[in-house]
Amino acid sequence: MDILFASSEAHPLIKTGGLADVSGALPRAIKNNGQEIRLVLPAYPAARRNAGSLREVARLDLPGDPAPVRVLQGRLPHTRVRLYLIDSPAHFDRDGGPYSGPDGKDWPDNAERFGLFARAVCALAMDRAGLGWKPHLVHCNDWQTGLVPALLSLEDKRPATLFTIHNLAYQGLFPRADFERLGLPPAWWSMHRLEFFGQLSFIKGGLVFADWLSTVSPTYAKEICTPEFGCGLDGLLKARRDHLAGILNGVDYQIWNPGRDRLIPHTYTARTLRLKLEDKLVLQRTFGLPVRPETPLFGHVGRLVEQKGIDLVLELVPELLQRPMQLVLLGTGQPALEAALREASRRHPTKIGARIGYSEELSHLLEAGSDAFLMPSRFEPCGLNQLYSLRYGTPPVVRRTGGLADSVVDATGPNIKNGTATGFVFDKAEPADLLRAIDRALNLYAQRRIWKQLIDHGMHQDFSWNRSAEAYLGLYAKVLVEHNR
Ligand code: ADP
Ligand code: GLC
Repeated sequence: MDILFASSEAHPLIKTGGLADVSGALPRAIKNNGQEIRLVLPAYPAARRNAGSLREVARLDLPGDPAPVRVLQGRLPHTRVRLYLIDSPAHFDRDGGPYSGPDGKDWPDNAERFGLFARAVCALAMDRAGLGWKPHLVHCNDWQTGLVPALLSLEDKRPATLFTIHNLAYQGLFPRADFERLGLPPAWWSMHRLEFFGQLSFIKGGLVFADWLSTVSPTYAKEICTPEFGCGLDGLLKARRDHLAGILNGVDYQIWNPGRDRLIPHTYTARTLRLKLEDKLVLQRTFGLPVRPETPLFGHVGRLVEQKGIDLVLELVPELLQRPMQLVLLGTGQPALEAALREASRRHPTKIGARIGYSEELSHLLEAGSDAFLMPSRFEPCGLNQLYSLRYGTPPVVRRTGGLADSVVDATGPNIKNGTATGFVFDKAEPADLLRAIDRALNLYAQRRIWKQLIDHGMHQDFSWNRSAEAYLGLYAKVLVEHNR
């Protein structure tokens, strides 16, 4: 099979969240399975820098775009996956993140930027760049690639399309003027196509036009068909239910492996947990907390947004202060949450350590050095940090939703007895429920033998990409059979 994988971020080129982890790892796993898969991304400055050697292989004249767009070719670092970067300096050559500027505000021309990206991906997919390669299937990811299946639907002899939802809450909504500016077919301004309550919705391009849809866990696939999780799109998704799959993400164990992680001071395995304790001491020191080996240390890494439920933790601060525990948090996001975390650690420097920022290195240290990992998400399409936590012997405390529900087994009495427990699961997105789960964790932490069993079992879970890649290959095959019928 020949597959073109389109994404707006991929580790180690550029990353804001889990989408980058997936786009950096899944193509490699599929390539290792013997399929030809190529990755295409916008040529942000960071992506160009991190990609290493690149050469121009084509120039595209895209409708509506004054300057020709260059296609740069290289490799996704440390893999055999061919990489294409879409180089349009007016759209992508600027300082800041892939979606927002240095001030944290969305780029005002995001519709144009990802509209152009979609047109370039279509040109590659239709082999209009003269590269002599036409994929059988284009795998699109999140709203930034939503227009790809829509635009391809206008083509004769087009490849099949799969659209993966990594997070339904981000939809790429823009004013009608952007719809006009992009020169999209007027008939698409309809609630059955790209219009969504008076706005242009990029994600609907994927949801309406792709041959198949998937999302990143079986539970989230069910959840998004309900009003509670559907973000206004549950009706559409329910109607397409028989073309919606749920495949749990995997973990890149080359990057997330405590046995050979180059970003942590002491590597360890399930048999050398005393070295994990050394990492804990470094973590306490790094976050300015009193260095206390015996005090249970809870960690969190993530985007500071409502989705992740960190406000629940903040609400619990008075309760947590009364317990023999410490808390370390790393994240960036909403200014109010950033300020609240800073304030909490300033006021309680012996109990709470917070770093506002993005740091690959600290995120690894935090996974390694924490005793337990907090992930009280309101919704979580898949979630990767709970999977990393399992491998790092850091039992996750999670809400029963999305991929969290699909990957963590609650430490109930029976599950502890039969050796299946891997973490702590609670139901309602309320402080009291979270607190009960934290208390259960503290209680078990004090029972050293059982805690060790819990760690050991988590560390031996296998969420490697191979398994997920096989599921994707099965899905690709199914999509192709239908497409060619
Ligand atoms: P999401 O994609 O919703 O942000 P995931 O759990 O799927 O959530 O993935 C988040 C990824 O981003 C993880 O690899 C996590 O370690 C990383 N990450 C998030 N925030 C930070 C941060 N402040 N510093 C370093 N890594 C971060
Ligand atoms: C999204 C989701 C997260 C998921 C990631 C990768 O950003 O919020 O749950 O793990 O995409 O699929």
